[in-house]
Amino acid sequence: MHRWPVTCSTTPVAPACSDADVTDEVSATDPEVEDPVREVGVGPHPTPWPDDARLDPDLLANGDRRNVADRYRYWTNEAIVADLDRRRHTFHVAIENWQHDLNIGNVVRTANAFNAAAVHIVGKRRWNRRGAMVTDRYLHVDHHEDVASLSEFATSERLEMIAIDVVPGAGPIETVSLPERALFVFGQEGPGLSPEALDAASMVCSIAQYGSTRSINVAVAAGIAMHTWIRQHADAPPAG
Ligand SMILES: C[S@@+](CC[C@H](N)C(=O)[O-])C[C@H]1O[C@@H](n2cnc3c(N)ncnc32)[C@H](O)[C@@H]1O
Repeated sequence: MHRWPVTCSTTPVAPACSDADVTDEVSATDPEVEDPVREVGVGPHPTPWPDDARLDPDLLANGDRRNVADRYRYWTNEAIVADLDRRRHTFHVAIENWQHDLNIGNVVRTANAFNAAAVHIVGKRRWNRRGAMVTDRYLHVDHHEDVASLSEFATSERLEMIAIDVVPGAGPIETVSLPERALFVFGQEGPGLSPEALDAASMVCSIAQYGSTRSINVAVAAGIAMHTWIRQHADAPPAG
């Protein structure tokens, strides 16, 4: 089993985000001031190129500017998906999409980061891909007409459906034991989860809040739920 390191490094490391994700203000003494438009990723690969079928000749020739982990530099998209498929986690994520929720892209991006088995869109098929930052290329996004179809899928895959929402009777996700084969279902901004989704779930969990607002953004809630599963079930992530 690949164990988590016990301590955190105190050595400063390069930021894990790409420039495409973050806009930082730079000071006059910052070396980046000379060249504020830094390119993300890597340039053309020196020749001779490695003999590896996973590598994309076009990326080797022109450079790889995608927002991918270093271990995937120059790999074809298909090779990356195949590698992720070999070690996908056993949790799925579903989000209801009755009103074209703009947060779905962000949920997809986080599901990719935590290597979810798949994301399921319930309701309208079309969803706004903007927040996904093209991460939907690297994971499986399925569509279900309604909650009944999602529920059938969960039964056929032996997944326990867990509704995540702020509703009376919900258990605190902070202390609950999440099942290894889990399907988290999230509701929409505004209405929250549909009664059908709440009925279909075997467990309902909420995230503790301490401020004045009733709820948090659904993509944030999805990130917290996924990471709670990771803390309970996942091994340390691959290096690089
Ligand atoms: C903005 S909330 C919907 C409103 C919420 N049903 C209410 O009563 O105010 C949208 C979705 O985000 C998720 N969510 C937001 N805050 C949450 C919390 N504290 N605990 C669990 N889920 C939450 C749920 O999936 C919810 O359906």
